[in-house]
Amino acid sequence: MLHRGPAAAIRRAVILKSQPLHAKCSIVDNIQRPACSMSSTVRNYASISNPNCAKEALSDQTTNQIVGNAGNFEQTQSTRPDFDHSKKSIEVTKHPNPDWQYSDGIGSYEAASRHVEVDPYASDRPMINNYRLLIAGIAPRPIGFVSTMSKDGVKNLAPMSYFQVVDHDPPTFVIGFSARSGRIKDTYRNLKETGECVINTVSEHMIEAVNATSLDAPYGVSEWDISGLHEAPTTTVRPSRVAESIFSVEGKVTDIKEVGNHAEDGTSAAGIVLIQATRFWVREDATNADVSNINLDTLRPVAQLGGMSYGRITSTFELPRKRWSDESQKNKVLKDLHNISK
Ligand SMILES: Cc1cc2nc3c(=O)[nH]c(=O)nc-3n(C[C@H](O)[C@H](O)[C@H](O)COP(=O)(O)O)c2cc1C
Repeated sequence: MLHRGPAAAIRRAVILKSQPLHAKCSIVDNIQRPACSMSSTVRNYASISNPNCAKEALSDQTTNQIVGNAGNFEQTQSTRPDFDHSKKSIEVTKHPNPDWQYSDGIGSYEAASRHVEVDPYASDRPMINNYRLLIAGIAPRPIGFVSTMSKDGVKNLAPMSYFQVVDHDPPTFVIGFSARSGRIKDTYRNLKETGECVINTVSEHMIEAVNATSLDAPYGVSEWDISGLHEAPTTTVRPSRVAESIFSVEGKVTDIKEVGNHAEDGTSAAGIVLIQATRFWVREDATNADVSNINLDTLRPVAQLGGMSYGRITSTFELPRKRWSDESQKNKVLKDLHNISK
């Protein structure tokens, strides 16, 4: 049982800091396996000479602290305004600085502002800090809601925000899977074993159901049942698509690259998977005649941010991309730069 709430979290942190490693390895871990035998107090992960045990401590931090640190969320939530369900049109404003000219930089640049340099591999830096920093700094991230099926037909649904479309010709997507203590993520295993999936988009109307599918449910428990979402048929792959999603992409795996040394550290494999689309499905009322656009007011995408935050789009602006051949004719700064480069 994971302790919850800020006080429990602090208590737990104190326990972790002061316990010998053999105790630490078993305290933070709900998974039944032999505890590490080393007895030195853990202060500095790099000083731990048993690499498996060190990695175990690190990976447990990643896994168990990612989930289960919400504090008294119900109380916090009760003080917040209700979600705005009005579905008013997403406004389009001017872009931030319409008077901007080539070489202007940004008006508010302060040469004196300082940056903190971080070595992600520093011996005293727990990897949970890298996780927190990365998800806070690389944001917003789109969420790919991935439907897969195991070799023997067990259905799976999971949200992934280490996710992106990486090309349109051919339409190609990437999904990143993190290591965790315990078994490999079912989605990752299914992709490796069957090479098939459906990537579904995530809109505001379905976010609680999507979030619920990230539960680390035992193998064989269907996330479709946990979420209450509905299956819709597909034509080129076995897994179903999510009927509630505005846009779904059937796809097949083209490449898998495992990352990290997880084979040695006792955690499940981490890796990235490239997927090539084999079909698109777009909700009829969200698209145009030649199915080349999706209406943002209907899509209402949700993105993942840092911590446990999600973001919605309530306002956009447009900023056209221009061509050098046009711009360099009429703009002195570009003309001068062009001449200097000759
Ligand atoms: C919004 C959201 C995004 C997530 N993104 C990722 C991700 O990109 N990679 C990953 O390994 N886990 C990610 N997770 C965690 C997985 O969804 C979670 O570990 C899930 O239990 C995996 O399910 P599976 O074992 O059925 O594949 C995310 C969770 C949420 C809620």
